[in-house]
Amino acid sequence: MANNVDRPQWKSNFGFLFAAIGSAVGLGNIWRFPYIAYENGGGAFLFPYIVALITAGIPILMLEFALGHKKKASSPKAFAKIDSKWEWLGWWSVTFVMFGIVAYYIVIIGWCANFFCFSFTQMWGPDPNDFFFHSFLKMSSGVWDLHGVNVSIALAVVLIWFINWSITYQGIEKGIERAVKFMMPILFLITLTIVIWSLFLSGAEKGISLYLTPKFSKILNLDVWIAAYGQIFFSLSLGFGIMIAYASYLPKNANIFKNSIIVAFSNSFYEMFAGLGVFSILGYMAVKQGIPIKEAVTSGIGLAFVAYPKAISLIPFGEIFGMLFFFLLTIAGISSSISIIEAFSSAVIDKFGASRQKVVTTVCIIGFFGSLLFTSHAGLFWLDIVDHFLNHYGLVTVGIVEAFIVGWIYRTEQLKMHIVSRLGLSGTRNKIFQYIVLQLWKYCIKFITPVALGIAIINSLMQEFAKPYEGYPLSGIIILGVGWLLITHIFAFGMSGLPWAGENESG
Ligand code: PHE
Repeated sequence: MANNVDRPQWKSNFGFLFAAIGSAVGLGNIWRFPYIAYENGGGAFLFPYIVALITAGIPILMLEFALGHKKKASSPKAFAKIDSKWEWLGWWSVTFVMFGIVAYYIVIIGWCANFFCFSFTQMWGPDPNDFFFHSFLKMSSGVWDLHGVNVSIALAVVLIWFINWSITYQGIEKGIERAVKFMMPILFLITLTIVIWSLFLSGAEKGISLYLTPKFSKILNLDVWIAAYGQIFFSLSLGFGIMIAYASYLPKNANIFKNSIIVAFSNSFYEMFAGLGVFSILGYMAVKQGIPIKEAVTSGIGLAFVAYPKAISLIPFGEIFGMLFFFLLTIAGISSSISIIEAFSSAVIDKFGASRQKVVTTVCIIGFFGSLLFTSHAGLFWLDIVDHFLNHYGLVTVGIVEAFIVGWIYRTEQLKMHIVSRLGLSGTRNKIFQYIVLQLWKYCIKFITPVALGIAIINSLMQEFAKPYEGYPLSGIIILGVGWLLITHIFAFGMSGLPWAGENESG
């Protein structure tokens, strides 16, 4: 395995932080989190959520940062350096995220881009529900009723892939770092504008009290805990291979601990804050239409593409609000999708020593065709199944195996020393830190994280066998859900079987 002496580097730690936060903050924060929080106990959800953040989110993030940084390698190479038999794990995660999660994620960004344009004239009219599902998605009768491609969605998908390509093509400093330094301040500013605007709408307080009133009875429910771990994983881009690749471009003395804490808290703070805006809007809508607030709350996709358009039609200057909101979703989505294109491309570059430009171009073209699969009239069904299986089984399995490899085979001690030596603390403070905080981290990686994720996966499996997910036909579930996991797995084993560019020494 060649050691890259000329590995690209972030120009500043700030640039790295923006890129990592840009990857974490995405569609998952803006419309997934608020609904998950509401459904799982409102204010009371914050307790399992914070426990999940501390026992799995921060430990795994720190593990991924430290591993990528220490090994100066993308995910497959980092694991191969521990032991070549674990290389498949790195390939598997970047592959199913790249050609599964991101393939449909970019289609959703494409919907956002379309809705950005629709906002000018509020094209959804009086019935946004009918508009979204029938006029826009033109949803067919079921999983195998494809009908062909939706042209307006496919065109937006071309545009989003093109933007993604043009950023990642230019590399770390000139491409990703420059793009996030431009996008992230805009993203924060628009978020602030939207949330404050929403808070001042009449009825906002009704929505917020629904969001934050704790329903403590829910805390004892296992599903609530699983939802909390699932949200933390998706939202922090853990198990994607992204944070490993991003950290591999940090300079030698970067402070891993500090960076993990900043990224993890920024991401969680962002989603809790965004939730205030989302629920204010729902409160406003309920009051305006004279309906009970609970009826105004809808799930993920419905929230952004049905409830929001409805609210936008009611708000004074709604057109501007709509444009800001869908623009926000679009850039939040792009700053996330570039991160996985980078994670997959850097894996291929590390393995075959190929040129970045060639790799990124090929990856984006294949990724584009992957996205096209989700633009048919059955696209939403496909998206729903693939999303469910990759999130519930793919990401969680990667988390468990990662924790197992580092905790039990590689030994956390080595990574711990890597983190300690870059803390910038000395004397007693350093000792206290090592003994308390990092010892806790070690126990999380060895015991708590794998056990918590293990329970989550067993529970999901039991539900799977009890009844097919969302009542989809078994053929759809097996081919799209299980199939996606299996094919990417086979691909991963194939890739790890191929020789490394240049040499066959292992390091
Ligand atoms: N963390 C992202 C989010 O919350 C998830 C993601 C990252 C999706 C990278 C795709 C690529 O939306």
